Amino acid sequence: MRVSLTEAAQLLTQGNVVAVPTETVYGLGASLNKHQAIESIFSLKGRPANNPLIIHASSAEEIMKFTKNIPPGFDQLASSFWPGPMTLVLPADENRVDSKARAGLPTAAFRIPGHPTTLALLKLTGPLVMPSANLSGKPSATSAEHVEHDFGSDFPVLDGGKCLRGVESTILIFVDGVWRIIRQGAIPAEAFQEILGYMPIVEVSAGRGKPLCPGQLYRHYAPKAKLVLTDHFDDSMTGAVVGFRDRIYPKALKLVPLGSSTQPKKAAEHLYAALRQLDEEDIPLAYVDVDVPQEGLWLTILERLKKAAQP
Ligand code: TXA
Ligand code: MG
Repeated sequence: MRVSLTEAAQLLTQGNVVAVPTETVYGLGASLNKHQAIESIFSLKGRPANNPLIIHASSAEEIMKFTKNIPPGFDQLASSFWPGPMTLVLPADENRVDSKARAGLPTAAFRIPGHPTTLALLKLTGPLVMPSANLSGKPSATSAEHVEHDFGSDFPVLDGGKCLRGVESTILIFVDGVWRIIRQGAIPAEAFQEILGYMPIVEVSAGRGKPLCPGQLYRHYAPKAKLVLTDHFDDSMTGAVVGFRDRIYPKALKLVPLGSSTQPKKAAEHLYAALRQLDEEDIPLAYVDVDVPQEGLWLTILERLKKAAQP
């Protein structure tokens, strides 16, 4: 069910869950001060309770109200990349951030989204927690139709069109004197170099099985189809190929396109729609063309594909 901006704001402030567009993927929004709504987000998604949520706010000043001990570099990162697809994990003021939202951790994740509709909504509602609006483990939603497919046509959705970034925000945390990327995302690691003076390393685990980013432990983004990642194609292959319009594949493979092999932004934009298309068309097996440069946004796309292909 499509709702207007004012209806969405009203529903959220009354303690309901509403699907909200962002520039990365759609989110399932709940007000940060509605505990019941936060709880229902976990059950709606089938999300494990130890996987914390991102708090979305409309300004850095607002975010500061929920944190303490801001790490060095915060101001530069915030002014360079917000509003936008960057999430920062910061020490949380545990009295002000619902413990359920941060899965009991002493930290909380924050982001100021770049989509104008999301910002307008946040100004009406105040901070919202928003995980991606998909069933846990499944491909994320990049259109209102995707959300309705997962949660039913009666579920309230604020339609903001298709998400242009198409992959989730890049998440950083400050540990042992440096910022580290704990989830690759729409902003590639290289983009932080100029601001920080170093390229943040990608580090998902703190070692000894202790996750820096709990969500990275789980199987993710996966369609029902079996995905085979490959850079080699031959005529024995049948089924579908998730690949590029400017490449030639064996004739028996149906192309589910990610755009052009020279445009990583387009590939990111189409990624989840392509994975969802496999399920819509009941395709049981798809080869995925991973012959792309090992750099920039391609690394985020490859990370998502590797997760999606996990058995
Ligand atoms: O682009 C995005 O980030 C989207 C849109 C809706 O904003 N949201 C999103 O949320 O991707 P979700 O819930 O699908 O992923 C949030 C990730 C999870 O992997 C979670 O473990 C991590 O953020 N996270 C949240 N709080 C954290 C914390 N305090 N420490 C470490 N990781 C945290
Ligand atoms: Mg997600």
